[in-house]
Amino acid sequence: MDDISSSEQVLLTPEQDFPSDQQEEPHHPMTSTITTMMGTTTNNRGITSSGEEEGEDAEVGVLLPPRRVDMGEWNRQIDRAQRVSLFSAHALAIVLLIVTGQWVSQLGGLSWEKGQAKLIFNWHPLLMILAFCFMTVASLSFRYRHFHSSRSASKLLHGVGWAIGAGCMAVGLAAAFFSHNDRTSGFVANMYSLHSWVGMTVLSMYSVQFLVGIGAFVLPHHHAFGISEISKAKIVQVHSFFGPVLYLSMMLTILLGIQEKEGFVGCGYKVDAPDMIPFQNFSQIPFVCKQSHAMGFCILAMGLCTMFALHQMDRTKYRTR
Ligand code: HEM
Repeated sequence: MDDISSSEQVLLTPEQDFPSDQQEEPHHPMTSTITTMMGTTTNNRGITSSGEEEGEDAEVGVLLPPRRVDMGEWNRQIDRAQRVSLFSAHALAIVLLIVTGQWVSQLGGLSWEKGQAKLIFNWHPLLMILAFCFMTVASLSFRYRHFHSSRSASKLLHGVGWAIGAGCMAVGLAAAFFSHNDRTSGFVANMYSLHSWVGMTVLSMYSVQFLVGIGAFVLPHHHAFGISEISKAKIVQVHSFFGPVLYLSMMLTILLGIQEKEGFVGCGYKVDAPDMIPFQNFSQIPFVCKQSHAMGFCILAMGLCTMFALHQMDRTKYRTR
């Protein structure tokens, strides 16, 4: 035990204190009976800390002090899984952009010409999804340090990623308003859906996060006039809380947007009898909707991978009570 580095050792309650190969399933602490006999521990399944079967007559009820075990291998597995997640998030972003491109072309393609409101609108989902992909790169930039990139390179990538994302969103939003306000194509109401209101809120939060980030970490500060180091430290805390919140809110908004668009496209099909086994009718769903469903799943999977890769596991809390 002594050869394990302190960062890889964790406190363990007596219920947990068994060799890993004999700990087949977790058991509820309330149902666990801890017994001691001559310095060995046993649980209610009668397995001792030394791995021996214990008899019926074991003494009941004395708790041993917590002990340390080696979590090093588990921590290395988590690191590996986070690296796979980081890679998967990027791979999914590429797949997402390809599917989105094909979906947009199924919907008629892109245009900025007056009288082509539908094609002008198509810029909106394309650019918003592109922004989400840049947000993914920016969010994960500090995790590239797994690959020994420097902190300043990560910072640069983080800032550039968010800046390109902000640019894509600004143009994407303008496209939605231009298409709705195109006289030649006919006017459409603005800001009537839940998607548009949630979207505007997310954009506002994004802008605040972006501007605070620039103000605190990019602009040069003189100690007498600028932000002090302690304020910067406080801002970093809040900034790194709101980053993932924004990322997930963006994901939610995009899913709402896809749902909104699917409503216009029409994804349902006619049935003459109760549709008891919908999977059998999967082929009846229009191709363009299958594409947008695939986009939605890609976005969900990206969210999952990015959040897992971003999460800083608390390696001190292994105690169950
Ligand atoms: C995070 C990214 C997104 C944000 C912040 C966002 C925001 C908005 C906003 C503010 C509007 C209202 C524009 C207006 O009233 O003229 C809107 C409209 C719309 N958006 Fe998005 N959007 C996003 C992504 C998407 C995506 C990926 C789609 C997918 C198709 C989409 C579909 C729509 C549709 C169909 C409308 C028109 C109907 C409506 O006003 O709700 N949006 N969006």
